[in-house]
Amino acid sequence: MAIEIAPSILSADFANLESEITSVAGADWVHIDVMDGHFVPNLTLGLPVLERLAEVSPLPVDAHLMIEDPDRWAPRYAEAGATSVTFHLEAAAEPVRIARDLRALGARSSVAIKPDTPVDQVLDVLVEFDMVLVMTVEPGFGGQSFMQHTMPKVTALREAATAAAHPLRIEVDGGVTRETAPIVAAAGADMLVAGSAIYGAADRAGEIDALRRIAQEAADHR
Ligand code: DX5
Ligand code: ZN
Repeated sequence: MAIEIAPSILSADFANLESEITSVAGADWVHIDVMDGHFVPNLTLGLPVLERLAEVSPLPVDAHLMIEDPDRWAPRYAEAGATSVTFHLEAAAEPVRIARDLRALGARSSVAIKPDTPVDQVLDVLVEFDMVLVMTVEPGFGGQSFMQHTMPKVTALREAATAAAHPLRIEVDGGVTRETAPIVAAAGADMLVAGSAIYGAADRAGEIDALRRIAQEAADHR
């Protein structure tokens, strides 16, 4: 599958989100990190803000919910305009039910696992998900270092999806740069989130293109 790039607005200027999203319009998605101050020790934005951003964004919204009680809240983000909704397995009571709710609302159903959460529980019900997000840092903050020990989970997911002929997207989030993009793509990831690498670049469009090209090359050679 073609590599997709999703800039994370966690590293953008929160006073100017519309123009900050427009500045990365050459990407495939805009990644919006929803944090509740409970599931992670940081607080960002919620439904009303995401709903307005979805209205003005030239890119589809990839919502990453780092919140408690996704059973209750995840479908609301699909209703608010997110094209893809990722909730955390660690916070979910009934992950399969959430996935079905999201699909019924027309959204991409996606589940995230933290760096030290095993992938087995996801593998058991893989076809319920359109995407799995393997966190490559502890969720909560931008600008952290990539954790390479998460890569065997990406490979296990890619192998299981191929064996099941399931067109699964595999997303990675945290510490993605020009240096780590080939590592994640070679392991089997095909959707790359990058916050500080893109928003911190002088030429954001050029950085998006570079990440996509570098990752695609590694994916084509795996
Ligand atoms: C962290 C967020 C990420 C964050 C990534 O919990 O989920 O989306 O913005 O930031 P970088 O790319 O700077 O590691
Ligand atoms: Zn994220």
